[in-house]
Amino acid sequence: MTDVATFDMPAAESVSIIDVPLALPRRLAQGMSGTGNRAKPREKHDFYRSPPSVAQGLLSVERFMGPIHEPACGDGAISQVLEDCGHTVVSEDLIDRGFGAGGVDFLARTRAPGNCPNLVTNPPFALADEFALHALELGYAHICLFARLAWLEGAARHKKLWRKHPPSRIWVFSKRQTLWRGDEPSPGKGGTLAFAWFVWQRGFPGTQMAWLP
Ligand SMILES: C[S@@+](CC[C@H](N)C(=O)[O-])C[C@H]1O[C@@H](n2cnc3c(N)ncnc32)[C@H](O)[C@@H]1O
Repeated sequence: MTDVATFDMPAAESVSIIDVPLALPRRLAQGMSGTGNRAKPREKHDFYRSPPSVAQGLLSVERFMGPIHEPACGDGAISQVLEDCGHTVVSEDLIDRGFGAGGVDFLARTRAPGNCPNLVTNPPFALADEFALHALELGYAHICLFARLAWLEGAARHKKLWRKHPPSRIWVFSKRQTLWRGDEPSPGKGGTLAFAWFVWQRGFPGTQMAWLP
Protein backbone atom coordinates (compact mmCIF):
# COMPACT_ATOMS: atom_id res chain seq x y z
CA MET A 1 0.00 0.00 0.00
CA THR A 2 1.09 3.54 -0.63
CA ASP A 3 0.82 6.37 1.84
CA VAL A 4 -1.62 9.06 0.76
CA ALA A 5 0.81 11.86 1.42
CA THR A 6 3.55 10.26 -0.65
CA PHE A 7 1.44 8.60 -3.29
CA ASP A 8 3.58 7.00 -5.93
CA MET A 9 1.95 5.72 -9.11
CA PRO A 10 3.46 2.45 -10.31
CA ALA A 11 4.14 2.67 -14.02
CA ALA A 12 1.51 5.35 -14.32
CA GLU A 13 0.89 7.27 -17.46
CA SER A 14 -0.62 10.75 -17.56
CA VAL A 15 -3.66 11.08 -19.72
CA SER A 16 -5.71 13.98 -20.90
CA ILE A 17 -9.43 13.57 -20.91
CA ILE A 18 -10.65 14.59 -24.33
CA ASP A 19 -14.15 14.78 -25.63
CA VAL A 20 -14.55 11.88 -28.03
CA PRO A 21 -18.20 11.25 -28.90
CA LEU A 22 -18.09 7.47 -28.84
CA ALA A 23 -21.34 5.70 -29.63
CA LEU A 24 -22.40 3.19 -26.97
CA PRO A 25 -23.10 -0.28 -28.28
CA ARG A 26 -26.84 -0.99 -28.19
CA ARG A 27 -26.51 -3.59 -25.44
CA LEU A 28 -24.78 -1.05 -23.19
CA ALA A 29 -27.28 1.66 -23.96
CA GLN A 30 -30.08 -0.75 -23.04
CA GLY A 31 -28.52 -1.67 -19.74
CA MET A 32 -25.21 -3.12 -18.67
CA SER A 33 -25.33 -6.09 -16.40
CA GLY A 34 -21.71 -7.17 -16.24
CA THR A 35 -23.01 -10.62 -15.48
CA GLY A 36 -23.13 -12.08 -18.94
CA ASN A 37 -26.93 -12.30 -18.66
CA ARG A 38 -28.28 -9.68 -21.03
CA ALA A 39 -31.64 -11.22 -21.79
CA LYS A 40 -33.09 -10.04 -18.48
CA PRO A 41 -33.82 -6.41 -17.66
CA ARG A 42 -31.47 -4.94 -15.12
CA GLU A 43 -31.91 -5.87 -11.48
CA LYS A 44 -34.21 -3.47 -9.63
CA HIS A 45 -32.04 -0.84 -7.90
CA ASP A 46 -29.00 -2.19 -9.78
CA PHE A 47 -27.99 -4.71 -7.13
CA TYR A 48 -24.87 -6.42 -8.49
CA ARG A 49 -22.42 -7.89 -5.99
CA SER A 50 -18.72 -7.25 -6.34
CA PRO A 51 -16.32 -10.16 -5.99
CA PRO A 52 -13.69 -9.67 -3.23
CA SER A 53 -11.06 -8.92 -5.90
CA VAL A 54 -12.75 -5.57 -6.54
CA ALA A 55 -12.09 -4.13 -3.08
CA GLN A 56 -8.82 -6.04 -2.74
CA GLY A 57 -7.57 -4.40 -5.94
CA LEU A 58 -8.39 -0.97 -4.57
CA LEU A 59 -6.67 -1.65 -1.25
CA SER A 60 -3.54 -2.75 -3.07
CA VAL A 61 -3.08 0.79 -4.43
CA GLU A 62 -5.01 3.29 -2.29
CA ARG A 63 -4.51 4.06 1.38
CA PHE A 64 -7.31 5.42 3.54
CA MET A 65 -7.03 7.47 6.70
CA GLY A 66 -10.13 7.63 8.88
CA PRO A 67 -13.50 5.95 8.50
CA ILE A 68 -14.90 4.97 5.12
CA HIS A 69 -18.49 5.49 3.95
CA GLU A 70 -19.93 2.70 1.76
CA PRO A 71 -23.26 4.31 0.75
CA ALA A 72 -24.54 1.52 -1.53
CA CYS A 73 -23.27 -1.48 0.40
CA GLY A 74 -25.67 -4.15 -0.86
CA ASP A 75 -25.02 -7.18 1.33
CA GLY A 76 -21.57 -5.95 2.30
CA ALA A 77 -19.26 -7.29 -0.39
CA ILE A 78 -16.97 -4.24 -0.38
CA SER A 79 -17.50 -3.27 3.27
CA GLN A 80 -16.45 -6.69 4.51
CA VAL A 81 -13.15 -6.62 2.64
CA LEU A 82 -12.45 -3.10 3.97
CA GLU A 83 -13.32 -4.16 7.53
CA ASP A 84 -11.20 -7.29 7.27
CA CYS A 85 -8.28 -4.98 6.51
CA GLY A 86 -8.92 -3.02 9.70
CA HIS A 87 -10.94 -0.09 8.38
CA THR A 88 -13.96 1.37 10.13
CA VAL A 89 -16.79 1.38 7.61
CA VAL A 90 -20.18 3.10 7.74
CA SER A 91 -22.34 0.89 5.52
CA GLU A 92 -25.68 2.03 4.14
CA ASP A 93 -28.01 1.17 1.27
CA LEU A 94 -31.35 2.33 -0.06
CA ILE A 95 -32.61 -1.22 0.43
CA ASP A 96 -32.20 -3.27 3.59
CA ARG A 97 -30.14 -6.24 2.39
CA GLY A 98 -29.25 -7.47 5.87
CA PHE A 99 -25.99 -5.55 6.11
CA GLY A 100 -25.43 -2.05 7.46
CA ALA A 101 -28.27 0.46 7.58
CA GLY A 102 -31.10 0.07 5.06
CA GLY A 103 -33.49 2.76 3.84
CA VAL A 104 -30.80 5.41 3.34
CA ASP A 105 -30.89 7.26 0.03
CA PHE A 106 -27.36 8.51 -0.56
CA LEU A 107 -28.58 11.17 -2.96
CA ALA A 108 -30.72 12.65 -0.17
CA ARG A 109 -27.80 12.92 2.25
CA THR A 110 -26.83 16.46 3.14
CA ARG A 111 -23.52 15.53 4.77
CA ALA A 112 -21.13 12.62 5.04
CA PRO A 113 -21.94 10.33 7.99
CA GLY A 114 -19.75 10.22 11.07
CA ASN A 115 -17.31 12.69 9.56
CA CYS A 116 -16.13 10.06 7.08
CA PRO A 117 -13.45 11.64 4.88
CA ASN A 118 -13.55 8.64 2.52
CA LEU A 119 -16.23 7.18 0.28
CA VAL A 120 -15.83 3.81 -1.44
CA THR A 121 -18.58 2.11 -3.41
CA ASN A 122 -19.75 0.28 -6.47
CA PRO A 123 -22.69 2.60 -7.19
CA PRO A 124 -25.91 1.65 -8.97
CA PHE A 125 -24.92 1.92 -12.61
CA ALA A 126 -27.95 3.98 -13.60
CA LEU A 127 -27.07 6.54 -10.90
CA ALA A 128 -23.26 6.53 -11.19
CA ASP A 129 -23.10 10.12 -12.47
CA GLU A 130 -25.38 11.32 -9.69
CA PHE A 131 -23.39 9.42 -7.06
CA ALA A 132 -20.13 10.96 -8.27
CA LEU A 133 -21.49 14.50 -8.41
CA HIS A 134 -23.19 14.17 -5.03
CA ALA A 135 -20.09 12.73 -3.37
CA LEU A 136 -18.03 15.59 -4.76
CA GLU A 137 -20.60 18.09 -3.53
CA LEU A 138 -20.57 16.59 -0.02
CA GLY A 139 -16.83 17.20 0.05
CA TYR A 140 -15.24 13.82 0.85
CA ALA A 141 -11.46 14.08 0.69
CA HIS A 142 -11.10 10.71 -1.02
CA ILE A 143 -13.76 9.20 -3.29
CA CYS A 144 -13.43 5.82 -5.01
CA LEU A 145 -16.15 4.62 -7.37
CA PHE A 146 -16.04 1.27 -9.13
CA ALA A 147 -17.64 1.38 -12.57
CA ARG A 148 -17.31 0.02 -16.04
CA LEU A 149 -14.43 1.49 -18.00
CA ALA A 150 -16.89 2.79 -20.58
CA TRP A 151 -18.17 5.20 -17.92
CA LEU A 152 -15.51 7.51 -19.36
CA GLU A 153 -17.45 7.79 -22.59
CA GLY A 154 -20.18 10.18 -23.64
CA ALA A 155 -20.26 13.85 -24.51
CA ALA A 156 -23.05 14.68 -22.04
CA ARG A 157 -21.26 12.95 -19.16
CA HIS A 158 -18.03 14.63 -20.13
CA LYS A 159 -19.72 18.00 -19.96
CA LYS A 160 -21.36 17.48 -16.58
CA LEU A 161 -18.75 15.31 -14.81
CA TRP A 162 -15.34 14.67 -16.35
CA ARG A 163 -14.59 18.15 -17.68
CA LYS A 164 -15.50 19.81 -14.38
CA HIS A 165 -14.19 17.08 -12.10
CA PRO A 166 -11.41 15.06 -13.69
CA PRO A 167 -10.49 12.15 -11.39
CA SER A 168 -7.08 11.99 -9.73
CA ARG A 169 -6.54 8.40 -10.74
CA ILE A 170 -8.13 5.63 -12.80
CA TRP A 171 -7.17 2.06 -11.91
CA VAL A 172 -8.06 -0.23 -14.76
CA PHE A 173 -8.62 -3.91 -13.99
CA SER A 174 -6.52 -5.81 -16.49
CA LYS A 175 -8.63 -8.89 -15.67
CA ARG A 176 -12.32 -8.54 -16.33
CA GLN A 177 -14.41 -8.76 -13.17
CA THR A 178 -17.48 -10.91 -12.69
CA LEU A 179 -20.30 -9.15 -10.89
CA TRP A 180 -23.03 -11.27 -9.38
CA ARG A 181 -26.59 -10.26 -10.09
CA GLY A 182 -28.21 -9.83 -6.69
CA ASP A 183 -31.42 -11.71 -7.45
CA GLU A 184 -29.63 -14.80 -8.73
CA PRO A 185 -28.42 -17.62 -6.47
CA SER A 186 -24.91 -17.85 -7.94
CA PRO A 187 -22.64 -15.85 -10.21
CA GLY A 188 -23.49 -15.97 -13.89
CA LYS A 189 -20.86 -16.47 -16.55
CA GLY A 190 -19.77 -12.86 -16.28
CA GLY A 191 -16.42 -11.43 -17.14
CA THR A 192 -17.67 -9.71 -20.22
CA LEU A 193 -16.94 -6.10 -19.35
CA ALA A 194 -13.95 -4.04 -18.34
CA PHE A 195 -14.06 -2.19 -15.04
CA ALA A 196 -11.98 0.39 -13.21
CA TRP A 197 -11.79 2.28 -9.95
CA PHE A 198 -12.24 6.03 -10.46
CA VAL A 199 -10.58 8.02 -7.67
CA TRP A 200 -10.91 11.66 -6.69
CA GLN A 201 -8.53 12.77 -3.96
CA ARG A 202 -8.27 16.29 -2.66
CA GLY A 203 -4.87 17.76 -3.50
CA PHE A 204 -4.24 15.46 -6.47
CA PRO A 205 -5.31 17.40 -9.59
CA GLY A 206 -4.92 16.03 -13.08
CA THR A 207 -5.60 12.46 -14.09
CA GLN A 208 -3.25 9.54 -13.98
CA MET A 209 -4.08 6.02 -14.94
CA ALA A 210 -2.48 2.66 -14.36
CA TRP A 211 -3.45 -0.99 -14.46
CA LEU A 212 -4.24 -3.36 -11.65
CA PRO A 213 -2.74 -6.82 -12.22
C1 LIG B 1 -24.11 -2.35 -7.90
S1 LIG B 1 -24.87 -2.66 -6.31
C2 LIG B 1 -23.41 -2.67 -5.31
C3 LIG B 1 -23.56 -3.38 -4.00
C4 LIG B 1 -22.22 -3.48 -3.21
N1 LIG B 1 -21.60 -2.17 -3.07
C5 LIG B 1 -21.26 -4.39 -3.92
O1 LIG B 1 -20.31 -3.90 -4.50
O2 LIG B 1 -21.48 -5.62 -3.90
C6 LIG B 1 -25.61 -1.07 -6.03
C7 LIG B 1 -26.38 -0.92 -4.72
O3 LIG B 1 -26.85 0.44 -4.66
C8 LIG B 1 -28.07 0.46 -3.96
N2 LIG B 1 -28.75 1.73 -4.29
C9 LIG B 1 -29.47 2.04 -5.40
N3 LIG B 1 -29.88 3.32 -5.33
C10 LIG B 1 -29.39 3.83 -4.16
C11 LIG B 1 -29.48 5.10 -3.51
N4 LIG B 1 -30.13 6.14 -4.07
N5 LIG B 1 -28.87 5.26 -2.31
C12 LIG B 1 -28.20 4.22 -1.73
N6 LIG B 1 -28.10 3.01 -2.29
C13 LIG B 1 -28.68 2.81 -3.49
C14 LIG B 1 -28.77 -0.79 -4.45
O4 LIG B 1 -29.78 -1.18 -3.53
C15 LIG B 1 -27.62 -1.79 -4.55
O5 LIG B 1 -27.52 -2.56 -3.36
